[in-house]
Order: sequence, then C-alpha cells, then structure tokens
Amino acid sequence: MMFQLTEEQEAVRQAARDFAQQECLPGVIERDEHQKFPKDQVAKLADLGFMGMMVKPEYGGSGMDTVSYVLAMEEISKIDASTSVCMSVNNSLVCYGLQEYGTEQQKQQYLTPLAQGKKGGELYIGAFLLSEPEAGSDATSQRTTAIDMGDHYLLNGIKNWITNGSSASVYLVMAQTDVAKGSHGINAFIVEKSWPGVSVGAKENKMGIRGSDTHSISFTDVKVPKENRIGPDGFGFKFAMKTLAGGRIGIAAQALGIASGSYELALKYSKERKAFGKEIMHHQAIQFKLADMATKIEAARLLCLKAAWEKDNDLDYTLSSSMAKVYASEAAMWCSTEAVQIHGGYGYVKEFHVERMMRDAKITQIYEGTSEVQRIVISRSILK
Ligand code: CAA
Repeated sequence: MMFQLTEEQEAVRQAARDFAQQECLPGVIERDEHQKFPKDQVAKLADLGFMGMMVKPEYGGSGMDTVSYVLAMEEISKIDASTSVCMSVNNSLVCYGLQEYGTEQQKQQYLTPLAQGKKGGELYIGAFLLSEPEAGSDATSQRTTAIDMGDHYLLNGIKNWITNGSSASVYLVMAQTDVAKGSHGINAFIVEKSWPGVSVGAKENKMGIRGSDTHSISFTDVKVPKENRIGPDGFGFKFAMKTLAGGRIGIAAQALGIASGSYELALKYSKERKAFGKEIMHHQAIQFKLADMATKIEAARLLCLKAAWEKDNDLDYTLSSSMAKVYASEAAMWCSTEAVQIHGGYGYVKEFHVERMMRDAKITQIYEGTSEVQRIVISRSILK
C-alpha cells in the first residue's frame, strides 16, 4: 500500500495552497461580512483549470484525478470555504454528472464551457437543483414537475438552498415526470438561467459560507427541449444519487480543509500566546486539544483520500464517500470549535479567522446530505 502522493498531485496541492494564500486570503473576512460572491477568485480558479479538474481535456477539463481534487479542495477550504463550495458544486455535481451521463451534444454545448468555467470571457458555472421547500433529505418527495409535451417538457416548481443560485448560467434540475412511479418517475434536465420562466429568488442570509450565493430558483412554464433531459427516461433520481456520492467526496474535503485550517491557526496561536508565564502550548490542556485535532484531521484525510482513490479506480465509492463526509464534517465542527476555545475571547471576534471557520463548518454537516442521511447510506450498505 502506497501512502505517497505523485509529483503531479504534490504540484496540484502546492498550486492550490499558493492560490489560497495569494487570492483567497485577502478580503476573505470582508466577503463573509458583506456576503460578497468571490467572483474574482472563481474566475482565477477557472484560469487555473480548477473548475473542471476531473473533466477530460477534450471537453475543456484538466484531466486530473479525484485525489488531486481532494488535495486542492482541502487547501482552498483552509482559507475560504465560500470559494471552495462554488468550486466543488461545479466540479463534482455539475461537470461530473454531465461527463458521466450527458450526451455528446450536451457535453459539447454545456460541459465544455462549464469545465473551463468561462464562456466568451465571462464566468460560466453551474448549479445542482434537487432540494425543495418540503424535500431536503427526503429527495423523492419533490414536487417540481416536468410534463412531457411531445417536443419539450414544461417545467414548474421551486427549488431551495441552491449554491451558485444567481451566479450560475446552467442548472441541472431534478423534476417529477410521473408522480405514480416514485423515484423512477424523476428526470434530470439541463436548464439555462436565461430561459423565459426561470427566476432567481432572494439571497439567503446564512450563518456561514456567506460569500457563496444561495438562492431559491422558481420555474413557471419553462420550456425545456427534449434533448436537454439527462439519461434515459426515469433516470433522474439515480443520476442525483450517483452524482451526490461523488459530491460528498468534495464536501468531505472541504470539511477537512476547515478542520485543518482551524487547527493550523490554533497551533500557531498556541506558540505565540502566553498565559501563566509561558506560551500556552506548554499547558497540557492545550496540548491534548491539539493532539486530538491532529488525530481527527489525519483520520478524515485518510477517509477522503480512500474515497477519492476508489472513485479513480472505478470501485464503488458510495459507502466510503458517506463515511468520509460524516467523519470529516464532524471533525470540522469539533476542530473549529476547539480552535475558537484555544483562541479564548479573540476566537469569538470576526478579526480572527477561526470565528468564521466555526460558522462555515456547520454547513458541512447539512448540505449534500445531512450527517443523518450519511448514516442512512452507511447503515444500508453495511446491513444489506
Ligand atoms: N447510486 C445509485 N442508485 C442509488 C443510490 C446510489 N448512490 N442511492 C439510491 N439509489 C437508487 C436505489 O437503488 C433505488 O433504486 P431501485 O428502486 O431501482 O432499487 C432508488 O435509487 C431509490 O433509492 P432509495 O429507496 O434508497 O431512496 P430513499 O427515498 O429511501 O432515499 C436517501 C435515500 C439516501 C435518503 C436519499 O434520498 C438521499 O441521499 N437524500 C439526501 C439528498 C441530498 O443529499 N441532498 C443534497 C442536495 S444537493 C446540495 O446540497 C448541493 C449544494 O448546493 C451544495
């Protein structure tokens, strides 16, 4: 068993680390405070080839492996989880879904510019629309409908909590085409934001990842061409589940980054801050916290890399991606909370990054399947 990264993977990690320091760190506190979408950062990620990391070069991507994607996600999330979630949704949910299940025409028309992150010099990214006001974890209960009208589908309904909601140009939308068939009566469609009948709701005022733009999106009699359906009739729920299994690797890596970023700040602070006549790192109370943080982070990293490796080797990664996500997100919440504790009162004010990281960590236990959903997936897998 090899625990060593290749030279290429090390280079990707270093590039992501440099990018995070140079491009994400400046202004990260202000973007959080003012809920400012990191447009410049995302545009530069596109230039780096990080918006379509795992897409084949013939479709505008970088042709990298999932391990490299995990490394990049961790490094960027150490500094700025609002930027990394935008990157993650475009890579794992949008580009992956289209590359794996899209037709050649869909790949030429949509995947190629999405993987490049730009079209005609302008930002061009995607969003994944599954959740609804009354269908979050229970994804089969969605109410959005797409009625087959012969040459097109007529789309009506509302989707909630959509990451990249207003900045995306392309939406992958799940909708009921035959309610009687349950999960087999759901289809996935490619919908352009600019089409008549599509409207973007108000921006959510969130606890964390405040730089990312989260909106509800509504559809009123939107005409979706037949050729924009993804996969065979009734494939939409499986499409969503399969795509989310990969997405969970990205969010696990984001959580890992929040955990390791807050740990690194706590470690640095404990070497500088003095109390009771010595740097606080010399107190066992702090040492034990740091030891537990480092151990949880290492375990989370190994789970993330194992899930990525399984995906790269065409193995079933449904179980490992849910394990990585549930563990890494709990590690992110725990480590960022302990990092605030180590900073004492300074950890509770916005000038210190750990305050934001603790707020950002919480969403990793909620989106792309709550911790409870991950436990459903894990227990079904081990009990079957
Ligand atoms: N791969 C392939 N097929 C799968 C699958 C997978 N990973 N998971 C389920 N399926 C299939 C099942 O085999 C079954 O198919 P058959 O009927 O042919 O046997 C079908 O899908 C229905 O499966 P279930 O009976 O297991 O479905 P369920 O209703 O019990 O739901 C669930 C299971 C795990 C709870 C699922 O609904 C789920 O994952 N919910 C969470 C949804 C989620 O993650 N939402 C996140 C929104 S996106 C987001 O957050 C993005 C963002 O903006 C950041």
